[in-house]
Amino acid sequence: MGVTSETGRVVRVNGPVVHLTGLGDATRFEFVEVGHGRLPGEVLSVDRDTAVAELYEYTGGLTVGEPAWATGHPLTIELGPGLLGGIYDGLLRPLIDAEDFLEPRGLSRPFTGRHRFEPRVAPGADLGPGDLLGVVHPEQGLDHLVLVPPGLEGRLEEIVEGGSYLTSETIAMIAGAPVSLASEWPIRRPRPYRQRRHDRSPFVTGQRVLDIVEPIAMGSSATVVGGFGEGKTMLLEQVAKWGDADVIVYVGCGERGNELADLIAELTELTDPVTGRSLLERAIILANTSNMPVMAREASIYTAVTLAEYFRDMGYHAVIIADSTSRWAEAQRELASRTGALPAEQGYPADLPSSLAAFYQRAGRVVTIGGRDGTVTIVTSVSPPGGDLTEPVASHTQRFVQAVWVLDRDLAYARHYPAVNWNTSFSRDSDALARWHAANGDPEWGVRRSRLTSLLAQAAQLQGIADLVGLSALPTDERLVLLSARLVREAVLQQSALSQNDASCSLAKQSALAQGVLDLADSTAALGRAGVPASVIEEFDFGPFLRAKDTTGPSDAVAVRSITADLIDSLERLAP
Ligand SMILES: Nc1ncnc2c1ncn2[C@@H]1O[C@H](COP(=O)(O)OP(=O)(O)OP(=O)(O)O)[C@@H](O)[C@H]1O
Ligand SMILES: [Mg+2]
Repeated sequence: MGVTSETGRVVRVNGPVVHLTGLGDATRFEFVEVGHGRLPGEVLSVDRDTAVAELYEYTGGLTVGEPAWATGHPLTIELGPGLLGGIYDGLLRPLIDAEDFLEPRGLSRPFTGRHRFEPRVAPGADLGPGDLLGVVHPEQGLDHLVLVPPGLEGRLEEIVEGGSYLTSETIAMIAGAPVSLASEWPIRRPRPYRQRRHDRSPFVTGQRVLDIVEPIAMGSSATVVGGFGEGKTMLLEQVAKWGDADVIVYVGCGERGNELADLIAELTELTDPVTGRSLLERAIILANTSNMPVMAREASIYTAVTLAEYFRDMGYHAVIIADSTSRWAEAQRELASRTGALPAEQGYPADLPSSLAAFYQRAGRVVTIGGRDGTVTIVTSVSPPGGDLTEPVASHTQRFVQAVWVLDRDLAYARHYPAVNWNTSFSRDSDALARWHAANGDPEWGVRRSRLTSLLAQAAQLQGIADLVGLSALPTDERLVLLSARLVREAVLQQSALSQNDASCSLAKQSALAQGVLDLADSTAALGRAGVPASVIEEFDFGPFLRAKDTTGPSDAVAVRSITADLIDSLERLAP
């Protein structure tokens, strides 16, 4: 990072916040270096000749009068091969050698190492942004495409032969400009793309209540809202582990250190169904614990989305999992208070809505600058104090995401997991995805979804009446609705993250379970109409169907269908 000659002075030191003068026209978010130790930091605000900057590091020993340098550019990160499998802080500094809670796991390759590069174009080619220069094959994991960086085009004058290169070495010359395996990008600026794509295909999470009831598309955004201990982290980890992304960027924001260490251990142990290798090899983890600088936590969200866009540009499906964005917003609030900015709602800075919007807008399905199909999907959690959805972070987030998965205290208390409330959650993608399923071999998908949700809604109403007058006072057809809704909840929506067979569920098995419960509902309703008393049907043993999710393999739709068919046969024998 080139430092300009603009030298200023430290005029005040207040913990990590320093006041600097003489930096010329430094701007907000400009990257600065401060003191004889050249401590890195970012400008938070500028008032005439004084810039207030927050440093990323411990400022002990820094005194008034020491020099400071403006760099003329915002905070950038270095993108290149070797990022996957690594654990970093919010500024993409490797955490391996740091003396923190995270033990080195041996999987993280040093980012600055050598990489085997194979060129895929010959000198003389006319190249534009995003065109393929070559491929880096790390010993493991995904093919890393080396592309012409944004903004560069022209004749390929030189390119190195296949071999092992440092990330900083020049591997090609395009129109007089050197290109290396690594490149820099300012984290707060979205990476360019040719155009947004509006066609939708599902981002399959393997979690039935999400995929069946409130599904999201590749390139979409969703947030899990829930109170203390209702299962946000577990649900996000399930999405990270089983979601069908190529690259996972996991941001732990102000989370407890041991939770992240557990997650890393789990991702290491979990083998990727596609590659047969550890899932951590296609994941990047950004860890912010409460003991790290607030500034790094604030930056981590943008670092994550920049990383995801980098892999999107190679034509991959990247997902960002951020737990929890409430901690991130708190970092913003803390920074705002340090600069004396006028607070808005509940002390959050007035630009909280626009910074949330700017983050979620970077999700999307695009035609990349090189013409590839790539996506960035964003899944976050929000932990509003007291579960209050009208609080600023929760309420603004709901405006900018495509889906909101609301966790429910009563469900969590009843150990119904995932505790996603099917009445208050929503997805703006469900109609488009119903059309996708219809075009891809499952025309009944949308019909099943609406039958299931209306069954649940009807049951919620009837339950209110049953609580007042007693179940036995309800007519047979209403009692059977309550019975069917119980089957929907227990046999379809409940899913234990700890189950061998059921931690993740394929789309085919999801459909078999959903269709099964509707067929059973039809069958019991027919029996009721034929005069079989509700109590007789309620006593029927639905056990095999309730256990089907666990007794059949994760994608064994056939077994689910045969269990259902057997039960329907026995049910029919109850007919008069
Ligand atoms: N899908 C699930 N399957 C099985 N158990 C679950 C599931 N989700 C949550 N639990 C149980 O609930 C507990 C709390 O979940 P979790 O830590 O994810 O909640 P949280 O909302 O992230 O809490 P916090 O507010 O402390 O961050 C878990 O330790 C686990 O026992
Ligand atoms: Mg949590």
